[in-house]
Amino acid sequence: METIEKIVDMREARRRLEGTVGFVPTMGYLHDGHLSLVRQAREENGTVVVSIYVNPTQFGPKEDFKSYPRDIKRDLAMLKPFTDIIFMPPDAEMYPEDFDTWIVPGNITERLEGAARPGHFRGVATVVAKLFNIVQPDRAYFGQKDAQQVAVIKKMAADLNMPLEVVACPTVREADGLAMSSRNVYLSREQRRAAEVLYRALNLAKEMWESGEKDAGTIRHEMTALICKEPLADVSYISIAHCDTLHEMLHRVRPPALVSLAVKFGRTRLIDNCLLE
Ligand code: PAJ
Repeated sequence: METIEKIVDMREARRRLEGTVGFVPTMGYLHDGHLSLVRQAREENGTVVVSIYVNPTQFGPKEDFKSYPRDIKRDLAMLKPFTDIIFMPPDAEMYPEDFDTWIVPGNITERLEGAARPGHFRGVATVVAKLFNIVQPDRAYFGQKDAQQVAVIKKMAADLNMPLEVVACPTVREADGLAMSSRNVYLSREQRRAAEVLYRALNLAKEMWESGEKDAGTIRHEMTALICKEPLADVSYISIAHCDTLHEMLHRVRPPALVSLAVKFGRTRLIDNCLLE
């Protein structure tokens, strides 16, 4: 396993590679969710490149950029069995002082996370495009956990003719169903226990859909009622939308539909989703 910090060195390493390159961009503080992406990349490619970079431009001014959890030593140990190259550039490499070009995704970011976090997807799309240009992978792996991120990256790659395949990988969960997230460490013991309601609400949506309920409003209503029974949960949104365009379904659910939610527990905002197919 090689660790690389400089863009010129990453380019040089890329030139030496033969066969397909699978790439997993991350912000570090890795868990089994990240590792499932790396494992899939390992199975499907000759070389696996993982980036670890906490991208400042995707955090809002009141968000947790400074306090975002970091543990590089542990990350490197976790990646070692599956990874050929770790790219971990410093900020000055990625954003030199005169940096002045952005990728601004369109309508797809008007709702959900895009609405709640203005500028977030501009930062994500820009850093991912830069990483794609530096690493030049054949396949890039993203978690379905961040469903709108997957939709934004797929749209960007298609619209800008990026020569790679964007692969979406299933969400990895804790034993009680809570989606793994680097931000779960912020939860108190009580909040952690309460957060399990998110997975129950998604399962409720699935069960209603599978037993014949077709009205999006009814499903949203029942999910909201379930989550609101949990006093520590503060709902930011519950959405049933087309999984590629993210257009909200107001009446009839038309598969494939993305059921997604964002709920705050204290100051920690968690997101999760499932598909109705
Ligand atoms: P980060 O939050 O570190 O996540 C890196 C990748 O891991 C993302 O594709 C995310 O969807 C995936 N992931 C996170 N939790 C997961 C889980 N429980 N199951 C499966 N996959 C999971 O997402 C980012 O970083 C950044 O926005 C990035 C794309 C690196 C750009 O800065």
